[in-house]
Amino acid sequence: MAAFLGNLRNVVIAGFVLAALLFGLYFYTQGYDGPTFELFLMRWLHVGSGVMWIGLLWYFNFVSTPTTPKIPEELRPALGRYITPAALWWFRWSAMATIVFGIALAWRNNYLVEAYTLDFSQGMAGWPLVPKYLGIGIGMWLATIMWFNVWFVIWPNQQKALNIGGKYPDLTPPEKAAAGKTAGMFSRINTLLSIPMLFSMVAAGHLY
Ligand code: HEM
Repeated sequence: MAAFLGNLRNVVIAGFVLAALLFGLYFYTQGYDGPTFELFLMRWLHVGSGVMWIGLLWYFNFVSTPTTPKIPEELRPALGRYITPAALWWFRWSAMATIVFGIALAWRNNYLVEAYTLDFSQGMAGWPLVPKYLGIGIGMWLATIMWFNVWFVIWPNQQKALNIGGKYPDLTPPEKAAAGKTAGMFSRINTLLSIPMLFSMVAAGHLY
């Protein structure tokens, strides 16, 4: 058992096998409805990658950032050299998977344009025509801004601050500190936005 649990790949495969059993249960009790299941699958992958993304964002903000100053100076390099770069890999790619599945979901729900235009796509008269499109549209914009911050502000600045991949060997300590500060500020902005964003995401399916 310890050997099995010690291997992350096997554990993840086992998780998907259990989920496949649940699919079997659904199929057995409800019958198979292709389009419904395909939409559900997209939603499941969307929420799964979103949990990975926001989980890491909250790990950075609730655990890593407040704890780092308490770590003895000589132990801190381990964080910047090993743990944070690995976390940033999963962070930015789960953000990418979330937006891809999210856009696919909105497309599949036939409201991609309506949502991204905050339900103004039919003009101003009687706005909002479909309140759900406005509600999910706000969530999609918040999450899209967050995705932009991850890829175009946090990641490039963390690369500079931690010299990830050896791309910035010549930066001075003040330049590295400034890059780290910018990354941290935008990470905080994303933590702020994550709360209303998640409200909009869940409300779209259950409040409207
Ligand atoms: C730009 C990125 C994103 C886009 C375009 C997007 C888009 C969507 C869409 C279209 C839905 C379906 C709403 C419906 O009609 O039921 C949805 C649902 C949802 N999203 Fe996102 N989303 C994004 C980011 C996120 C993030 C970061 C999370 C964090 C976990 C998240 C969590 C959820 C949840 C929990 C649902 C509700 C699923 C349900 O109750 O059926 N989304 N999203």
